[in-house]
Amino acid sequence: MTLSIQRNGAVGALVSGVDLRALSQSDLHTLRDAFAEHGALFFHGQQLTPEQHIVLAESWGDINVNRFFRAVPEHPRIAEVRKEPDQTVNIGGGWHTDHSYDQIPALGSMLYAREVPAFGGDTLFASTCAAYDSLSDGLKRTLLGLRAVHSSRHVFGAQSAYVQSAGDRLGNADAASQDAVHPVVIRHPLSGRPSLYVNPAFTLQFEGWTPMESAPLLEMLYRHIARPEHTWRFHWQPGSLAFWDNRATWHLAVNDYHGERRLMHRITLEGGPLEAYSH
Ligand code: SIN
Repeated sequence: MTLSIQRNGAVGALVSGVDLRALSQSDLHTLRDAFAEHGALFFHGQQLTPEQHIVLAESWGDINVNRFFRAVPEHPRIAEVRKEPDQTVNIGGGWHTDHSYDQIPALGSMLYAREVPAFGGDTLFASTCAAYDSLSDGLKRTLLGLRAVHSSRHVFGAQSAYVQSAGDRLGNADAASQDAVHPVVIRHPLSGRPSLYVNPAFTLQFEGWTPMESAPLLEMLYRHIARPEHTWRFHWQPGSLAFWDNRATWHLAVNDYHGERRLMHRITLEGGPLEAYSH
């Protein structure tokens, strides 16, 4: 089997010719370089037990247990991302980057498809690095001086409509007490590229600005990041795995498969502190 990496477009690359149960040191090295370059890696045709999924994640780094997602039975370090045929709300159905409400956000997640609908249930990805690159020099200069406030409270707290509609899939609402402040443009920890680090799910406002003052510029940035030329759509098969970097991408789980079941296992990896990008 020969490992090959095919770039998608602005975000991610499709990796073939590799069995994620048996990575050599040389494969891992190649995948680490590709992850830094492309921001997300996609694989099809994998056959991972939960234990092998954990071994794969640990070959990359330390596991971060998400405090709000229900865990896979008997596997407390694997989060379950599930939608049943009688449910209408899915998990992660709006553009977001995971854990930006933490002062040290998670690096990314390895999401593995166990059951997928016959049609739909794709995941969209956007490159926050490509989105920064395609801004004007004037707006780039303005953004370099800004920081933004992020929170988990309004999404995972007890009052959140999302939590109320997710049923038993989300919990631990009392733990939704995190606020964090991050530079709006971070230096990507692996590639060194500038990356826009705001997202519609968790970012509340620019530091020192009111929410009303912040909203127009944040919304412009959200529309800009989600432009088609910054995105890629991944179509899942049972045994597909997506591994994305939260510091370089956004993602959105498309909710277009009502009446069918979709079951994914997600392992999240610990990240490191974020730094502001400067020239
Ligand atoms: C997530 O937001 O982590 C879930 C993405 C997906 O289910 O496609």
